[in-house]
Amino acid sequence: MPATTPTREFVLGLPKSELHLHLEGTLEPELKLALATRNGVDIGQSTVEEVRKTYVFDSLASFLGVYYPAMNVLVEEQDFYDLASAYFLRAATDGVRRVEAFFDPQAHTSRGVPIENVILGCSRAATDAADFGISADLILCFLRDFTAESALATLQEALPYKDLFIGVGLDSDERDNPPAKFAEVFALARSEGLMLTMHCDIDQVGSIENIRQVLEEIKVDRIDHGTNIVENPELVELVRERGIGLTCCPVSNSFVTSDMKATEIVELLGRGVKVTVNSDDPAYFGGYIADNYLALIEKSGLGIDDVVTLAKNSFEASWLADDEKALHLAEIDHYVESYSDAAASATAAESV
Ligand code: HPA
Ligand code: ZN
Repeated sequence: MPATTPTREFVLGLPKSELHLHLEGTLEPELKLALATRNGVDIGQSTVEEVRKTYVFDSLASFLGVYYPAMNVLVEEQDFYDLASAYFLRAATDGVRRVEAFFDPQAHTSRGVPIENVILGCSRAATDAADFGISADLILCFLRDFTAESALATLQEALPYKDLFIGVGLDSDERDNPPAKFAEVFALARSEGLMLTMHCDIDQVGSIENIRQVLEEIKVDRIDHGTNIVENPELVELVRERGIGLTCCPVSNSFVTSDMKATEIVELLGRGVKVTVNSDDPAYFGGYIADNYLALIEKSGLGIDDVVTLAKNSFEASWLADDEKALHLAEIDHYVESYSDAAASATAAESV
């Protein structure tokens, strides 16, 4: 396969998995306005343009300051269903076959929304995503700027619905909220058979120490972002050996820091780390998953081989069973072969 630059069409059709996606981060202004009307919530804006104008941030903290208040429009189970369904439908147009999606129960229960509205609405949408050719599962995230006791209480409240999510994660403001703060709740989740992942956001104070904690103390199965690991060769070797995936989000990176960290992502890919490309909060950062692949390709000049490796990594780093992973990997091989055959026939036709 020549190291040619992948086209937009190639990237859109490439089967891929989305492993770093906050369902609440898919709240497009149109749906936000519709839900505000449906639930009688005053959000202070009445047009899509006005809502978009509020989506201004230049750091993780300023992003979260816009993100959480927007969730006030999510109240009923149907609201969560509509939010998640709209995302799955949109993701299917980007060639997504598998989603392991985050949701933040505490962002809703802290406003008086029952946890079952959140879990049942998201989970029904995840089941119905099969209609769009997507297999989807959920990851319950704890808010790290809430207390460890609140995380534990949330897990206990969610355990009766344990069959409806496959793992737990950790998000929100990382500053002064290291992974070790949540060691007990993650140990309980593990003992309940759940998979573990945690955000290690970009360029945080103590990024490397936090990455060390998630690997050595929490023993996560995956790391969300985690790109700063490139600064520490021993930790890079550890994730490479253990086959631990890093869920990178280039477009999101360029909003919360000064660049998309393309150099770091490509370097980790070259070192054999299971780097993946994802969209994080696409309604806020203006890029769904294919846009993230394309932004990285444009910035770093990645060729088709590397892009195919990224897509394969997204299934290998997923929490699917091995036989399901193998089916997706075979589908990628088939796609690449038929794409090269079509390109070869087009070239042959041009030369006659
Ligand atoms: N980091 C931390 N919290 C978040 C993120 C993120 O990337 N997206 C939504 N909540
Ligand atoms: Zn995230």
